[in-house]
Amino acid sequence: MTTLTKLLLLIVLATVQSKDCNYQFGNAISCENIYSLEQLKQAIQECIEREKVQIEDFVGLEFQKSDINFLQPQTFEGFEHVKVIKFLFSNITNIPKGSFKNLEEFEIGSSKVDNIEDKAFINLKKILFYETVVKQFPKGAFADMDGLTEVNFHKNDLETIEEGAFDNSPNLVKLFIYENKLKSLPKDIFRKLTLVETIHIGQNSIEHLDEGTFKGLTKLKTLHLGNNLLTTLSPQLFNGLNALSDLNLQRNGIKDLTDGVFAHLNSLKTIDISKNQIETLRNAPFKNSPEIESIDLSENQLTELDNIFKGSTKLNRINLSGNRLSSIPDGVFAGTSLSHLDLSSNQIEKISPGAFKGLHQLKEITFESNKLSEIAATSFDDLKQLIYLNLDKNKLKTLPVGIFSESTALKYLYLSDNEISKLKNGIFDKLVNLIRLDLDNNRITDLESGIFKNLKQMESFNIDSNELNGISAQAFDGISSITYLTISKNPIWNIDCDAFKALSSLKYFSLQDIHLEEYPPSCFSSLKNVHTLRINNTILKQLKKGNFAGMEKLSNLYLTDNHISFIEPGSFEGLANLFFLSLDRNNLTKIVREMFTDSEKLEWLTLSENTISSLDPTTFELFPNLLYLNLGSNKLNNLKGNEFTKLPNVIYIDLSNNGITSLPSDIFKPLTSLTSLKLNLNRFKTLEKGSIPASPKLENLDLQKSNINEIKPDTFEDFKFLLDLDLSNNTLKHISAEMFRGLTEIYRIGLEHNEISDLNPDVFDNFPNLKRVDLKGNRLDSRIMTVIKGEYPKPGLVTRIDIC
Ligand SMILES: *[C@@H]1O[C@H](CO)[C@@H](O)[C@H](O)[C@H]1NC(C)=O
Ligand SMILES: *[C@@H]1O[C@H](CO)[C@@H](O)[C@H](O)[C@H]1NC(C)=O
Ligand SMILES: *[C@@H]1O[C@H](CO)[C@@H](O)[C@H](O)[C@H]1NC(C)=O
Ligand SMILES: *[C@@H]1O[C@H](CO)[C@@H](O)[C@H](O)[C@H]1NC(C)=O
Ligand SMILES: *[C@@H]1O[C@H](CO)[C@@H](O)[C@H](O)[C@H]1NC(C)=O
Repeated sequence: MTTLTKLLLLIVLATVQSKDCNYQFGNAISCENIYSLEQLKQAIQECIEREKVQIEDFVGLEFQKSDINFLQPQTFEGFEHVKVIKFLFSNITNIPKGSFKNLEEFEIGSSKVDNIEDKAFINLKKILFYETVVKQFPKGAFADMDGLTEVNFHKNDLETIEEGAFDNSPNLVKLFIYENKLKSLPKDIFRKLTLVETIHIGQNSIEHLDEGTFKGLTKLKTLHLGNNLLTTLSPQLFNGLNALSDLNLQRNGIKDLTDGVFAHLNSLKTIDISKNQIETLRNAPFKNSPEIESIDLSENQLTELDNIFKGSTKLNRINLSGNRLSSIPDGVFAGTSLSHLDLSSNQIEKISPGAFKGLHQLKEITFESNKLSEIAATSFDDLKQLIYLNLDKNKLKTLPVGIFSESTALKYLYLSDNEISKLKNGIFDKLVNLIRLDLDNNRITDLESGIFKNLKQMESFNIDSNELNGISAQAFDGISSITYLTISKNPIWNIDCDAFKALSSLKYFSLQDIHLEEYPPSCFSSLKNVHTLRINNTILKQLKKGNFAGMEKLSNLYLTDNHISFIEPGSFEGLANLFFLSLDRNNLTKIVREMFTDSEKLEWLTLSENTISSLDPTTFELFPNLLYLNLGSNKLNNLKGNEFTKLPNVIYIDLSNNGITSLPSDIFKPLTSLTSLKLNLNRFKTLEKGSIPASPKLENLDLQKSNINEIKPDTFEDFKFLLDLDLSNNTLKHISAEMFRGLTEIYRIGLEHNEISDLNPDVFDNFPNLKRVDLKGNRLDSRIMTVIKGEYPKPGLVTRIDIC
């Protein structure tokens, strides 16, 4: 419903007062806004009583948004059983020695710590310190911590680590220091960590790693060095890492990989070297890693694939996207267990018959954004398990006969953005499992009868932006499961409605941007399940009786941007479930009851940008549930006064830009549910009592840019419930309290971009609920602006809600 004008609603937010401490899942008590020890003790006591928690039932204590200047070794007396403490979004003056005794886990996040004393932590197993500014971090803070198994220090702007920092934590298993500002690591920093399994030092600025950095880490399984400034790797760097299975080197500046650098990684399973500058890889670099399963080399500068994957029999994922490859040598992947292959964004021009030979387990190939103009007919013959094939954005002019003859497993086939002009009959015959076919942005001129006849599983088909000039009777035969079909942006001037008989499962149908002037009655009658039909931006001139007959599930009908000037009585017959109807931007000149039929369920009717000059009020009797009515940008400047008598439920009406200079009295009075009225972009000039007829429940009134130069006293006297009055972009010069008399609930007055040059700030004194006055773009001096801002400082409490 994007075409509908956005609706402005006001929401005045209420603040909810919560308790200081609450008992949470995971046996923790979480406290907020704590400022003193007394408050803390009392709040915990209250929480325990209120939520009937046994003291020993909670093992965690969490502080949020607190200011902790009362930490003393005795602070947690009575809570010695607590194992986990967390501080989030808090300020802590000092962490004294001996504050925590039996604690196992300590976490500080998004906080500020002024000081940490030596031996502040003892016996901890796990420590997390992230997004936290620590002014002072003494070397001894982590002394006596041989029980420590996990340290997480991410995102702390750390620039250096002291030598020997982890020497007293020999039991460390996980170490995270990512997202800091480290330029280097001290020599032998990890030497004592013989049990460590995970090291993550990504997202730093490390330029060089000594060849002994990881020496002796025989248990290390995961090493993350990504997002640093490494340009070379010393050949011995990974020697001895016999357990390493996951190595990440992405986003460094590595140009050349030294021969043999991975030669000792005999447990390696996954390696990510993407986003570097590697131009060549020589001598089967992974031949000593028999377990290797996944290699990511995407976004490098590789120009050829020489022998890289030889001997990697367990290799199943290869990513070569974003390199400079121009060909795939025959047999380059032979001997692997390849299941996922990404070759997108290279410069490959053809696929030869031997490219994928023997890859019986290949399931997904991504080949988009290459320069493919030629594929051998037998290229995919061995790929009996291929499910996903993406050939988008290439230069294919044609597909050879038999190319998919063995692709019976294929479910997703993407051929968008090529130059295909003809689909040979039989080409898709073997794709009995195909679910999705994208052929948009090609040059296809016709769909031969029966071309999709075996695609019984197909659910989604897109052939937008081709050169189809007609749809023949048998075009869609066979695709009986299809739910999504779009044939927009084609020069179609002829549709044989029998074509739609095959589409009884269809739910979404788009026919935008085609060259059809009219549809025969009952054309869509087999589309019994369609809920959304878009006939947008065509040259449709008229709607005929029974045009949508049979579309019993249709709920959203877009007829936007057409040339409709005539709607035959009965055109909308049968649309029992219609909820949304757009006729925006057509050539309708009047609205009369006969055009429409009863549509009990219609809630949105949008008729903007036509040339409507008269409305038959009884039309609206047909839509008892209508909520939104858009009549903007028409010629309704001569309203009679009875137009809105049958709209008891409507909450929103748009009458903007209709050239209105005056309105009949009481015209909005019958609108007993109306809360929002748009009258902007009209031509009112002087407003006085009655100029804007009242509506009993109106909350938002938009009078922007309506040539208003004067507002007489009591103009809004009957607008008791109005919350928001927008008078911006008019030519008002003077503001007086009398102008707004009667607006007892008013919350905001918008007066931007008028010509106001004098204003006594007292004029708003009598509006107890006024919180916001907008005066930007007038001729007021800054002193007055400051006073007004000081008195009505709350722009934030008016929330725009877009209903669309
Ligand atoms: C923490 O201190 C800063 C000033 O350094 C202050 O702006 C902020 O409100 C304090 N936070 C809490 C939760 O007290
Ligand atoms: C391959 O790498 C590119 C770029 O790094 C990424 O966008 C893409 O998702 C990867 N492909 C697969 C199949 O994971
Ligand atoms: C209708 O088509 C026009 C032009 O293609 C497009 O700008 C507009 O967003 C479409 N509207 C809808 C509701 O699809
Ligand atoms: C429909 O309206 C457009 C814009 O107002 C106008 O250019 C066009 O000539 C009209 N077409 C018909 C058939 O009346
Ligand atoms: C109101 O006037 C200002 C200043 O001339 C302009 O920037 C703004 O776009 C106008 N608003 C509308 C709704 O025309």
